[in-house]
Formats: sequence, structure tokens, C-alpha cells
Amino acid sequence: MNNSVKIELAARYIREGKLVAFPTETVYGLGANALDSMAVARIFELKERPFFDPLIIHIACLEQLEKLVLHPPETVYRLAEKFWPGPLTMVLPKSPLVPEIVTAGLPTVGIRMPGNAIALELIKKSDCPIAAPSANKFGRISPTTAAHVKKQLPNVDYILDGGRTTVGIESTIIRLTEYGFQILRNGIITQENIESITPYDYRTEIEELSAPGMMKSHYSPRKKLLIADRKIADIDKTRAGLMSFSGQLEHGYLKVARLSESMDLKDYAVNMFEAMHAFEDDPEVEVIIAEPVSETGIGKAIMDRLRKAEYSWRQI
Ligand code: TXA
Ligand code: MG
Repeated sequence: MNNSVKIELAARYIREGKLVAFPTETVYGLGANALDSMAVARIFELKERPFFDPLIIHIACLEQLEKLVLHPPETVYRLAEKFWPGPLTMVLPKSPLVPEIVTAGLPTVGIRMPGNAIALELIKKSDCPIAAPSANKFGRISPTTAAHVKKQLPNVDYILDGGRTTVGIESTIIRLTEYGFQILRNGIITQENIESITPYDYRTEIEELSAPGMMKSHYSPRKKLLIADRKIADIDKTRAGLMSFSGQLEHGYLKVARLSESMDLKDYAVNMFEAMHAFEDDPEVEVIIAEPVSETGIGKAIMDRLRKAEYSWRQI
């Protein structure tokens, strides 16, 4: 089957209320018709995701945004102009059209227009906005290939294979406030990037509930993962896989995944989940060690993912 036949088939599944895993530029999504509560409920079931964790709705044009959101301010259009299609999610007041299950009962909805031609075509052909979380089991590593999806969600109705994703980590999530914007999840689009359109709001407190899905533990490999920013001297490197960035820590490790040839943080983002998956699947690797990066720009998003991957393991 060629791509357009596959997309046509996947779109039919979406219209029938089924679940389709599809590529975006960030990670693979597990999609359903966003306006069909029953179909959306199946996403939570298949992912084993708690119902308090809201989903992002994916759109292909601004007319869809206007149906899903109440009175979008002008800033939304300026942000859309600059960053869409692309890895930016905006949390905005929802219209009554959006089912409660999508937003976990919140008055707001997260919206983004993905920067991936297959995803955009799928949304257009499905003729509806598509609600999609990352296509992994809840709390596990996000998928950047169709094979990763198959490993965790073998029972999904259909997987639309679009090759490896090009960004590799989930979208930046922001919300707009009276004074500008706040970041609920860091991604490849940085605070500095967004500040070119609207100011960062340092004044308003982010209440706990504004980003309900943001747990301390997330993206967790089933093997111990530790960040090499603290004492890892007792780790037996001959049984460990290193996620390497600078090349300086590589000596003595059983396996090394070099995430970038030119110390480019974008490469770290693109390759980090894939390296975690590969080490998780490698029977010889007992522990995963990740090289930290400085927490500026894209480094914030990378360290956020690494800390969450490490969180449940550092207690042991
Ligand atoms: O790049 C991405 O954003 C990927 C691809 C598939 O688009 N999707 C993704 O979805 O990462 P997910 O479900 O894994 O993460 C969505 C997170 C939620 O956990 C929650 O923190 C936040 O988005 N979110 C969604 N709707 C929200 C809302 N109304 N208010 C606050 N946070 C919201
Ligand atoms: Mg996720």
C-alpha cells in the first residue's frame, strides 16, 4: 500500500470510532475522533491512562481551532502564524463542543497543529479533529518509531508508519494569561522563541492543577536509568549502556549510544527516547546512564525528560 491509501484507510478507522497510532514531528500519537467520547474513552483504556490526565487535540486548520476554543485572542493567531504547523500546544478555554473526557473535566483544552504531512493529511481525511496522547502505555517511554508503538500497544486498531519522528520529544505546552504566557511543559520551542511574540508571565503563579499530567515520574524505562550528574561510581559500567553527548564519558561502558556527532542539543532530543528504547530492549544492558546537559534552551526539555525517567529509579 502506498502512503495515500494507508492514510485513507486510517482516516476511515478514525471516522468509525477506532484508534489509530500516527506519526507527528514530535512522537507518535494514539489518535481518535476528538468529538466522539466513546472513541476517546478507548484511548484511556488502551494506554491505561488515568482519566484526570487531559489529551491534546490535533487540528489541520484554524477553522477547527475556532470551533474548539472560545474567543481565541489575537496572540493565538500570532503564535499560530509563527509556530504552526509545529511542536507547540496552546491551552485555551474550550468550547462546549469538546467532550469533557478529552479535557479531564477542565474548562480548557490543549490544541496543536502538528508539523508532519502524514498527520495533517490524516486529520483532513478523517474530517474531524484528532485527540491524541503519545502512543505509549501510561508512564512508559514515548514512541518515536512505529516499532516502539507496536511494542507497547500491540492491540491498537491501526499503526500508520511514517518512519522516525524528526523532533523526538513532545511539544512545548503553554497557556496564555493576562500578562503573556507560561510554560506547562518544556519542548524544542523554547521560552526565548515564544518571547519573540508575547512576553513571559513571571507574575501569575502556576497552580498545581494547571498541568495535571505533569507527574514527577514519567517516560520511565523498565530498566534502571540514572543521570550521570551525581555519584554513579558504584555502577558497573561493563553492564551499563551510556546515552552519550559530549563523548567524554564513554570509556569503559558496555554499550554507547552517541546522541550527537556535533554536540547539538536538537540531536539529543531527537535520539534520546530511541536510545532508551534500544537499551530497554537489549538483554545485555542492565542499567542506563544518561549524560546530563546544561539547563538552558532545549536543555530544559531534555533534563525534564531525563529527571522523569530517573525519578522512580533513584529511590531504589
Ligand atoms: O508532542 C506532543 O504533544 C504529543 C504528540 C502526540 O502530539 N502528545 C503528547 O500528549 O505528548 P500527552 O498526552 O502524552 O501529553 C499531554 C499533556 C497532558 O499530560 C497534560 O499535562 C497536558 O498535555 N494538557 C493537555 N490538556 C491540558 C489542559 N487543558 N490543561 C493543562 N494541561 C493540559
Ligand atoms: Mg505522553
